[in-house]
Amino acid sequence: MQQKKPSFPCHSSHDNRPIGVFDSGLGGLTTFKELRRLFPREDIVYFGDTGRVPYGTKSREIIRRYARQDVEFLLQHQVKMVIAACGTVSANISPDFAGSIPVPFTGVVGHACAAACAATRRGHIGVAATPATIRSAAYEKELKALSPQIKVSSIPCGLFVPLVENGFIQRDDPITRLTVERYLAPMRSSGVDVLILGCTHYPLLADIIGEFMGPEVTLIDSGKAAAEYARQFLTEQGMLAAPDKGPGENRFFVSDSIEGFSEVAEIFLGETIRGEVRQVSVG
Ligand code: DGL
Repeated sequence: MQQKKPSFPCHSSHDNRPIGVFDSGLGGLTTFKELRRLFPREDIVYFGDTGRVPYGTKSREIIRRYARQDVEFLLQHQVKMVIAACGTVSANISPDFAGSIPVPFTGVVGHACAAACAATRRGHIGVAATPATIRSAAYEKELKALSPQIKVSSIPCGLFVPLVENGFIQRDDPITRLTVERYLAPMRSSGVDVLILGCTHYPLLADIIGEFMGPEVTLIDSGKAAAEYARQFLTEQGMLAAPDKGPGENRFFVSDSIEGFSEVAEIFLGETIRGEVRQVSVG
């Protein structure tokens, strides 16, 4: 279950509370960037669990515990919706997770799968994600539920997150190019025509991955798909910020030192960081 409608009727047609977004680290900033583009007036609170990244190599039990703590932190900021901008969390939370949160919640898996099913022509979809996400088979199950005849090929790409977190994202970076080739060569020869970037860090490697897979293969950005869902959901529920509210404000929280955060975050966002940046402890 990836999302939850409010369990109480919505009486106002506007809601100025912030949107809460979290990820294990900085990868969710790719989703934040998309949200900011779609929602210029919304306030956004972002939490990156940089002190405990990566999640993708951890057990399901640990990922669930961290996800619970991340959500509790965002709820302290009176958010109106929580977005798990993390494929690993989205793939590993329990089925009752969304229902246990007092505000609407969404992950990225369902939305990415819907976008992939809409994009495929040959009916063969690839999934590249963290080891914990691939182990969960969440993308595969969701794709088969949406379209039982679809063929799915999955590959865990454990080195992509550290490469991104360390800023090895330039198109001509030889280490990243070689790593992409090593992981994705079997995927390319398998004949997929759509590749889901099932981890929100991976859009930072989209140029290299896209060049390697070739123009025939459509890349699906899982975080972007979730941001588009959030726009539709908040609009339908009358939960967007009021039209006369000023420009959206950002607050960034991380669980490790903020030293260097702005530099790396600016690479992710492609622009200067605007807003407060603070280190907090969770759990
Ligand atoms: N951005 C996270 C995801 O989407 C990265 C996972 C990790 O921390 O390993 O899966």
